[in-house]
Amino acid sequence: MTHRNIVILTGAGISAESGVPTFRASDGLWMGHRIEDVATPEAFHRDPATVHEFYNARRRQLTEVQPNAAHRALAELAARWPGALTLVTQNVDDLHARAHAEVEPASGFRLIPMHGELLKAACTRTGRISDCPGDLTVDSASPHHPEGRLRPHIVWFGEIPLEMEVIHDALQACDLFVAIGTSGAVYPAAGFVEIARHAGARTVELNLEPSLISDLFDETHFGPATRVVPEFVRSLSG
Ligand code: OAD
Repeated sequence: MTHRNIVILTGAGISAESGVPTFRASDGLWMGHRIEDVATPEAFHRDPATVHEFYNARRRQLTEVQPNAAHRALAELAARWPGALTLVTQNVDDLHARAHAEVEPASGFRLIPMHGELLKAACTRTGRISDCPGDLTVDSASPHHPEGRLRPHIVWFGEIPLEMEVIHDALQACDLFVAIGTSGAVYPAAGFVEIARHAGARTVELNLEPSLISDLFDETHFGPATRVVPEFVRSLSG
């Protein structure tokens, strides 16, 4: 089957084999924290130091991890794909960006980190974004406003993911939708498969095991991302 317009959604599972922990571990904790203690605007208001420390630790960890074969397979696909290829990631690590920096993506490629990026910070007064290579503290001053502070550029629960209009348009126009390593527990990303189905796209799930929404896909391939993603990419003509 030939396709032209592809949307790929990735989640924590694609980075798991690089050593980045997924979110929904069996103990229900997220690196030892309850999600509501670190990933909500209320948590940041209540205890910004703890929230900063949590994201500082995750940001530091990026220096110890590398893109894996699944990230690289998608980057190679982006380099050769003749149509539109929109890679939407829920991950806030920079592993897709690093894999794509190693090859020249084709002109139809774009990467959308819909839940923000660990290596960026946002001004609490203006919302403007700046690079954030190191730790943040409650005293980190914003370069954009004299009274502004910096917060992690992360979309927390209760906030609206980034670039939703662009993502929606890409889903409406796609003929292939692939979800990789995501549990289907968090909306709006978990609803993308239904938008793609309505648009008439072939829908494929690649995951270690069935997700919460596996039934919604035309096709499922189970196994570690470093195996199933390169295999699937090889199966695509174009
Ligand atoms: P989850 O931790 O909820 O799910 C990870 C998924 O990856 C599960 O379905 C696993 O089966 C699968 N998985 C684990 N190891 C894998 C491997 N080696 N190969 C393939 N699949 C594997 O992570 P997400 O679905 O990404 O939001 O979570 C969605 C959002 O919830 C995150 O972006 C985050 C979190 O709250 C924000 O930070 C805003």
